[in-house]
Amino acid sequence: MIAKFTNYQELSAFGADKIIQLVQQKPDAVLCLAGGDTPALTYDRVVAKAQEAGVDFSGVIFIGLDEWVGIQPATPGSCYHFLQQKIFGPLHIQKDKIYFFDAMANDLKAECNRIDLAIEQHGGLDLALVGIGMNGHIGFNEPGVDAALNAHVVELDEVTTAVGQKYFTSGAALAKGITLGMTQIMSAREVVLVASGPKKAAIIREAIQGRITNTIPASLLMAHPRVSILLDAAAAAELD
Ligand code: PGA
Repeated sequence: MIAKFTNYQELSAFGADKIIQLVQQKPDAVLCLAGGDTPALTYDRVVAKAQEAGVDFSGVIFIGLDEWVGIQPATPGSCYHFLQQKIFGPLHIQKDKIYFFDAMANDLKAECNRIDLAIEQHGGLDLALVGIGMNGHIGFNEPGVDAALNAHVVELDEVTTAVGQKYFTSGAALAKGITLGMTQIMSAREVVLVASGPKKAAIIREAIQGRITNTIPASLLMAHPRVSILLDAAAAAELD
C-alpha cells in the first residue's frame, strides 16, 4: 500500500497509530525501529499516544536496525542514542528487551550473530519501520547489497557517509556500518517505509516505479506482501 499524506505531521500520526495498534494487539511484539530524521515525529507520537491511552510497552522486544561502526552508543548521532532519547527512555524500556548492535565491539561478526539469534529466538520481526536513504538504502543495505544476507558489516556508500554527517554535531569518522540484512527486513510480518520532503522524491520514484533491483535496495520492498509506504506530498511529488 502506498499512502500519500498532505504533510509530515499526518504521515507521522499514521505511522504512530500502526505501532500503537500492533502493540495493543500483541503486547510482546518484536519491533525494529529505524533511526533517522524521518521517523522522529512518529516516535514522539508513539510516546504521546502510549501515555495518553496507557498502552503497555513493557513486553515489547526492540531490535536495532543498524549502527555506525566505531561510534559509541552514548554519542549523540548514534542510532542507539537516538532511539534511547525518542523511545527507550520515554517509554521506560528495560535493557533486557533491547537488542542493539554494539558497533564498538572488537568482534563485529559475533555482534551480527548475536542479533541474528535474537531475531530468531523471538520468532522474527512483527514490524520493521524504516526510512530510505538518498541512494535507496534501507538500514545500511547499500546499493548493490547481497539481498540474501542476514546481519552484516558493510563499507558505507559515499552518499551515506556524506549525508550521515547531519546527525552529528562535529565531524564524525563514518566508514562502516553494521545492519540487519534485507532477508530479515523482508521476513518482517509488516514493513513500514516512511519518506518525507523533496530530497526523497527522486529516489522514491525510482524505488516504487522502477525495476526491483538490489542497486536500489528500497525497491526490493515492493515485493513484500505487507508493506506500507508512507509519503508526504513532497516525497510523493515525482510519482505518476
Ligand atoms: P533520514 O534517513 O530519515 O534521516 O532521511 C533515512 C535513511 O538514511 O534511512
